[in-house]
Amino acid sequence: MKKIPILLAALGLASYSGLAFAEADAERGAATAAICMACHQADGSGMNIAGGESWPRLAGLDAAYISRQLHDYKSGARSNASMMPFVNMLNEQQIQDVAAYYASLPATQGKGSEGADEATLKRGQQLAERGDWSDYIVSCKSCHGPDNQGAGDVFPGISGQHAGYIKAQLQAWKAGARKNDTQDLMGSIARRMSEDDIHAVAVWLASQNSVAK
Ligand code: HEC
Ligand code: HEC
Repeated sequence: MKKIPILLAALGLASYSGLAFAEADAERGAATAAICMACHQADGSGMNIAGGESWPRLAGLDAAYISRQLHDYKSGARSNASMMPFVNMLNEQQIQDVAAYYASLPATQGKGSEGADEATLKRGQQLAERGDWSDYIVSCKSCHGPDNQGAGDVFPGISGQHAGYIKAQLQAWKAGARKNDTQDLMGSIARRMSEDDIHAVAVWLASQNSVAK
């Protein structure tokens, strides 16, 4: 999206009032985020809710990734009853601004791995870092970056995300309920994972740093 204002400026169209392509503004986004805080919290850390619908950490995620997800909720490409009413309140400018705001917040740490046993964490680490060729599961880090902290705007950081949210997303892909990613990359992985493996990788990732320390 960053390229669009530049392109418009080059074409001399930037001042055309019919186009809502002003540069994303994190400060304006902070005001918009007031309606998101009840769930995503004032610091963007979200919340792990055992046995319930966890609220993902947004703090420190890539702005283009966040805005793509908001567009997908809005268009129905990704559906969620909790998000739908809030995303419908946002216009294009507010989506850009709120995405820039959450991306600018310091990343927080994941919850939900407390009390996980050694064997489970070890299995989770194996899946995240090496994969399991006997089940045709590619390592998470091969796409999500060396420490699963994200790679560019396509592969979101999943290290330090809440276990409950990671689990819910893998289960949604496995069931075919989330399918807004390109080429079904996540669906084809999640369908090869057992419930135990989904749990293991979720709790291990939640126990890892969300950004390089
Ligand atoms: C009532 C609680 C609630 C409110 C309020 C809320 N959200 Fe969410 N949000 C959720 C839940 C639950 C999910 C996970 C949904 C799913 O599984 O797809 C989510 C997911 C998201 C995601 C996807 C994150 C990812 O990593 O893919 C983004 C982005 C997001 N919310 C932004 C916002 C913004 C911006 C607002 C305010 C305009 C907002 N949310 C308000 C509950 C809420
Ligand atoms: C072949 C590449 C690839 C591999 C390997 C991969 N992912 Fe992903 N993953 C993606 C892409 C692309 C997305 C973003 C989907 C979108 O844009 O909606 C994603 C998104 C996710 C999300 C959603 C994050 C969020 O904030 O909503 C989770 C959770 C996830 N992956 C977990 C995993 C786990 C766990 C593994 C390893 C078992 C893994 N992924 C391996 C490509 C991959």
